Amino acid sequence: MLDWSDTPAAAAPTRMPRPDAPGLAGDATGLGAIDRSGGRVSIDDKAMINCRADVNQLLPMKYRWAWEKYLSGCNNHWMPTEVSMQADIALWKSRDGLTEDERRAVKRNLGFFAASESLVANNIVLAIYRHLTNPECRQYLLRQAFEEAVHTHTFQYVVDSLGLDEGELFNMYREVPSITDKAAWAIRYTQNLSDPSFQTGTPAADQAFLRDLVAFYVVFEGMWFYTGFAQILSLGRRNKMVGIAEQYQYILRDESIHLNFGIDVINQIKIENPHLWTPAFQEELRRMLAEAAELEAAYGRDTMPRGFLGLNAALCEQYMHVIANRRCAQLGLAPVFAEAENPFPWMSEAMDLKKEKNFFETRVIEYQNGGALSWD
Ligand SMILES: [Fe+2]
Ligand SMILES: [Fe+2]
Repeated sequence: MLDWSDTPAAAAPTRMPRPDAPGLAGDATGLGAIDRSGGRVSIDDKAMINCRADVNQLLPMKYRWAWEKYLSGCNNHWMPTEVSMQADIALWKSRDGLTEDERRAVKRNLGFFAASESLVANNIVLAIYRHLTNPECRQYLLRQAFEEAVHTHTFQYVVDSLGLDEGELFNMYREVPSITDKAAWAIRYTQNLSDPSFQTGTPAADQAFLRDLVAFYVVFEGMWFYTGFAQILSLGRRNKMVGIAEQYQYILRDESIHLNFGIDVINQIKIENPHLWTPAFQEELRRMLAEAAELEAAYGRDTMPRGFLGLNAALCEQYMHVIANRRCAQLGLAPVFAEAENPFPWMSEAMDLKKEKNFFETRVIEYQNGGALSWD
């Protein structure tokens, strides 16, 4: 157990944020000239956005929830190549293993995720990271960025294993309108932030940053990915495409932490900047979630025009309404849809990997132990 009271910072003078401080004292990137004359960082100097304290100092730690998520991410380490694709290959190549409707749904699902993982990764690295001025959160973002690379790797591995047309799959986000509509909706929010001249620090800019967090963490990873998981895991429950289903369970476990990190970040920014959370802004965010649910419903109708056993567009739309309301509650917003029954109650089981003992091998547990190995 670490003793936080024993850190050098406890005995040193504390630096107060100075608006005119050179170099690191006022530098959000952490790459400015080093401030030789400044005092040491105290916990009170740290803030989620617009922080003037040195962003290169993880300790002293203020946001332990971010650090805990970093540790959880490390404990969940996995690689797609560890999952056997033999059963999926046999099923995919057999003439009557899957219906045409199931094939269409699987391909569109893979096509949606293949580019989306990359969009999410680019948003973290090129838009979010620069403006989130806290080292604990940045530590988690670095872990998340790696996990998004592992997820993109998963789709490369699936394309390779099943012999799919890589051009068709990786271009779906440009060529299939119902997928393009979702990507285009989210990209608008990251384009604002990735503009080199964009800076937080005004209410309008800080709200733009919050909108981007909602678009990517809450909508992309927290709503759209969840219907994507439900589609594949529904097939997995019927013993179809079990390799991809197993990979999706690992991705789902990662994404549930990404989502919760995003929710915590938004709520913490809200606590530190209550003036941003106006009634009009709350209404705007609720509209975003409602729009996103409608885009997902259109994607569902396009992807599953006839539906198949246990899954159809209407059920996916109902699930999206349940999830959208849940995300509203997590953000302290009023629900956007009438209360509906969750059509996929088994999804919460799928998130708890320890309950799926027959489905999973022991690799995950081995990784968790690996992090705690004793060398003496
Ligand atoms: Fe991901
Ligand atoms: Fe993610």
